[in-house]
Amino acid sequence: MSVVVREAELSDAHGVARVEIEAWRDTYPALLPSAHLVGGLDMARRTVFWRHRLSHRSGLRTVVGAVNSRGPVVGYATWGPCRVDTLASGGQLFELYLLPDHQGRGLGRRLCAAVGERFLKAGVSSMCVEVLEGNPNRFFYEAIGGRLAARAGHRFAGTILPTLIYAWDDLELLVGERAR
Ligand SMILES: CC(C)(COP(=O)(O)OP(=O)(O)OC[C@H]1O[C@@H](n2cnc3c(N)ncnc32)[C@H](O)[C@@H]1OP(=O)(O)O)[C@@H](O)C(=O)NCCC(=O)NCCS
Repeated sequence: MSVVVREAELSDAHGVARVEIEAWRDTYPALLPSAHLVGGLDMARRTVFWRHRLSHRSGLRTVVGAVNSRGPVVGYATWGPCRVDTLASGGQLFELYLLPDHQGRGLGRRLCAAVGERFLKAGVSSMCVEVLEGNPNRFFYEAIGGRLAARAGHRFAGTILPTLIYAWDDLELLVGERAR
């Protein structure tokens, strides 16, 4: 089975919603309220949300990892202009989620490199990502060359959760690592 990284299409909305829901429920039970992880992640509603996102009306772009290109979506990443005021980063990786069965096989690195490549093509040479401090997967960003650049907080369900911001100052390095 080969997983191909490509631009997301409108028809991927259901597949991306499935990855989002499964990955959130697997990753965040200790960090986010179970009411959100159970009732708040409804497949029909999230598919409608992703149809809007993937129609590009939100301004964010999405790449997916899909089995044999046309097969099921197993991971996705979203990206756009940096929203962290205190950072000089040009771009931001907003979301990166893989189905649990597809983690640990290099797809996360490939999706990050694909996002980096798209930023470079757009003339943007740096990027950042904001991750919940309690998410052990933050070490993934360190493993692929991100430097801890700032601490912040993200409001979620009425509570501000501590976050870390990782930055890549030279995306050529991240993109060049793709073949590893
Ligand atoms: C985090 C995530 C995107 C990483 O993708 P992945 O495909 O599992 O990671 P890769 O296989 O590409 O790993 C790349 C490198 O990071 C390392 N790594 C991956 N996850 C790690 C972790 N949790 N802790 C430490 N290192 C990690 C790998 O060992 C590998 O290092 P190496 O190349 O030196 O051997 C994926 O595991 C995932 O979707 N997790 C759940 C959702 C999540 O937490 N997303 C981030 C929200 S901001």
